[in-house]
Amino acid sequence: MFNNEKFFWSPAARWEKKDGQVKIEVFCYKDYIVELFPEFYFFTQKGVYVNDLIDKFPKYDKDRLKSFIQDLIRKKILVDSPLIPHELFYSGNYLFQNKHSENIKYDKLEFENFKSMQLNRNYKTPKGLKINLYSDEQYPYCISERKTCRSFNTNEIISFEVFSKLIAVFRQRRINGQIKYYYASAGGLYPIDIYIYIKEKRVENLKQGLYYYSPLDNSINIVDECCHVNKNAHYFMNQSIFNQSAFSIFFIYNMEVTMPKYGGIGYLYSCIDIGIMVSSLTFVAGLYNIGLCSIGDMNFHKIEKYFQLNKNQVYIHTVELGLKLED
Ligand SMILES: Cc1cc2nc3c(=O)[nH]c(=O)nc-3n(C[C@H](O)[C@H](O)[C@H](O)COP(=O)(O)O)c2cc1C
Repeated sequence: MFNNEKFFWSPAARWEKKDGQVKIEVFCYKDYIVELFPEFYFFTQKGVYVNDLIDKFPKYDKDRLKSFIQDLIRKKILVDSPLIPHELFYSGNYLFQNKHSENIKYDKLEFENFKSMQLNRNYKTPKGLKINLYSDEQYPYCISERKTCRSFNTNEIISFEVFSKLIAVFRQRRINGQIKYYYASAGGLYPIDIYIYIKEKRVENLKQGLYYYSPLDNSINIVDECCHVNKNAHYFMNQSIFNQSAFSIFFIYNMEVTMPKYGGIGYLYSCIDIGIMVSSLTFVAGLYNIGLCSIGDMNFHKIEKYFQLNKNQVYIHTVELGLKLED
């Protein structure tokens, strides 16, 4: 059982002994499990094979210990790979000492006031030390007119040519024997795997389904023809965007590509890579009348099965795209 990999106590899981129980985040355990702590935590914090962990507690029934361990693995309290972003950044929820009202999350007016305050923040410059810059820059249309699109033209189909030209922003080229991309990536390693979900009759020549985009030969490869993404994969606020979009792009960080070189900080670089990718995509989309909307978070677990990811591939970001509506 799970014995080929070391398991670690998830850095995202806090535990305490309280009222005769062990409470691990929202889960409570009692009876013999209480006696296992804190040693159980110390062993798993450093990483341990399941059989070795069981051997550390010879006094206890092996099968019961096994089922406890299995339960912790299922709940992702014991993990054998880096955390997903939700777990990784979870500590920010309690380490950040929030001085603002919780209402800004739910009350539109309070949020608008809060947003206005944030967007008007400034540096308190002592007199005479402020230097105003020229403000007459003239950027190309695809930059100056950029804006998020949340409604798309659902009556017309995107031509195969436009779709190809758009996605080609992620392709690999060989120039004088050197591999080049249109965007930057830490170490030139390009760890982001790109998956595209295309809806029925929205892109010329392409059937509905989930595809893997190969930057190597600029092709899309069917992953699952039967993949059907339901609007419930999205939070309520984003469902109408998804309902209208022609296709979705999913950005998946493949840790095997950069963690051997960068270790854990490769995770941060991958998020920066994705930001640059979305930015490049945005400008190219502007050239071809395609609009897009970044989706910060979704119920990815509802569709994860279609992707057949391995444990070192982690979902980071989604972008919904479609033909722009006339202004
Ligand atoms: C990381 C990220 C996540 C976002 N998530 C959402 C989202 O879930 N839903 C949405 O409607 N817009 C989303 N947006 C778009 C922002 O709301 C939008 O960029 C912002 O309001 C500024 O508007 P503009 O892009 O039209 O200038 C996201 C943008 C980014 C960069």
